[in-house]
Amino acid sequence: MSDMDETIGSTPGSEHDMLTLQIQDLKAQILDYKLKNELLEKELQQLRKENGQLKRVPLFVAAVVDVLENGEVYLRQQGNNQEYVTVVNEKLHRTLKPGMKVAVNNTLSIVKTIGNIFDARVRVMELDEQPSVTFEQVGGLKEEIEEVREAVEYPLTKPEIYERVGVEPPKGILLYGPPGTGKTLIAKAVARQSQARFIRMSGSELVHKYIGEGAQLVRELFILARERAPAIVFIDEIDAIGSMRTNDGTSGSAEVQRTLMQLLAEMDGFGNRGNVRIMAATNRIDMLDPALLRPGRFDRIIGVPLPDTGARLEILKIHTAKMSLSGNVDLTGIAELAGNTTGAELQAICREAGMMAIRRDADAVDQEDFLAAITKVKREVAAPDSRMYT
Ligand SMILES: Nc1ncnc2c1ncn2[C@@H]1O[C@H](COP(=O)(O)OP(=O)(O)O)[C@@H](O)[C@H]1O
Ligand SMILES: [Mg+2]
Repeated sequence: MSDMDETIGSTPGSEHDMLTLQIQDLKAQILDYKLKNELLEKELQQLRKENGQLKRVPLFVAAVVDVLENGEVYLRQQGNNQEYVTVVNEKLHRTLKPGMKVAVNNTLSIVKTIGNIFDARVRVMELDEQPSVTFEQVGGLKEEIEEVREAVEYPLTKPEIYERVGVEPPKGILLYGPPGTGKTLIAKAVARQSQARFIRMSGSELVHKYIGEGAQLVRELFILARERAPAIVFIDEIDAIGSMRTNDGTSGSAEVQRTLMQLLAEMDGFGNRGNVRIMAATNRIDMLDPALLRPGRFDRIIGVPLPDTGARLEILKIHTAKMSLSGNVDLTGIAELAGNTTGAELQAICREAGMMAIRRDADAVDQEDFLAAITKVKREVAAPDSRMYT
């Protein structure tokens, strides 16, 4: 019996001891981990502090030129235009897009994203959320306006009519005619009427001010348009980037050609019925690369001519609407006398007539002021080479 007692007594005893030992061991381990945890916690705090300091030092602003493979990003620093490639983490890599603005620290690592670069491009790209021009402010050009509305406004506001009839609206609308005849005016008015954003890019400014960046800016223009759709993209002076390809070997032409290629690629990427409508203007249609005028590109071409007498009268009425005119003013007669003038010149005539009245210290503008203004403006525009167009 005593044997039994021994066995029974010893077995639970040793098992108990073993478990006690194990518990002690685990407790020791817990303590160990707690210590390690504390150390890590301290390290984390230190890193957080350093990170905070890093973010507090002045940061440089850079633009994302391209997002490359393997976590790499191609940046261009604002101001000095220095370019470099930096590596970012996967999460950031996924969110970055060409054209975005980022803040970089002095080791050129991206600290955070700031937003889009577009606002820095205001000189070439002008975004008008709500143009204020109405059709009433455009004199003459009734048929031209109607054609533009069919091609630009109705696809945005009444797309169902195109579906019903089963035709595609034109892809791009090209307005051509002498400078100052109201091309920009029409484009703005149609944007207002369609409640679309008006995004204007000037071809000549693009070519002159942003050498080497033309293609990128064209890309950004269309990114902006997609973001802000419904939108009307208006490329003014398109001849500056869309002239017949010259093989004269001048340094500018390869760059201009790349810009044009980008424009063609962007246009090909749009459907005819999209809510981004594309318009362009030129006074040198004879110079345009035929590639621009192919179907699916600028396939609706609308001439904007010099105003005839009736249209000149309308334009004079528009620009004298807010002026005090004497009873002797005969706008019809002025419209007849001011032959061969553009809308912009007629506006200048009205302004000059107003100036004459101010100089005379008169309360109202009279006929004589207008006659003198016509002579002055016509003399100015008759200066050599001031009216080069076709
Ligand atoms: N048909 C017109 N009716 C009223 N104003 C006009 C007209 N055409 C030109 N203007 C005046 O001339 C200015 C310049 O015209 P704009 O539309 O920029 O010419 P374009 O783009 O054809 O060179 C306009 O802001 C407007 O004041
Ligand atoms: Mg214009």
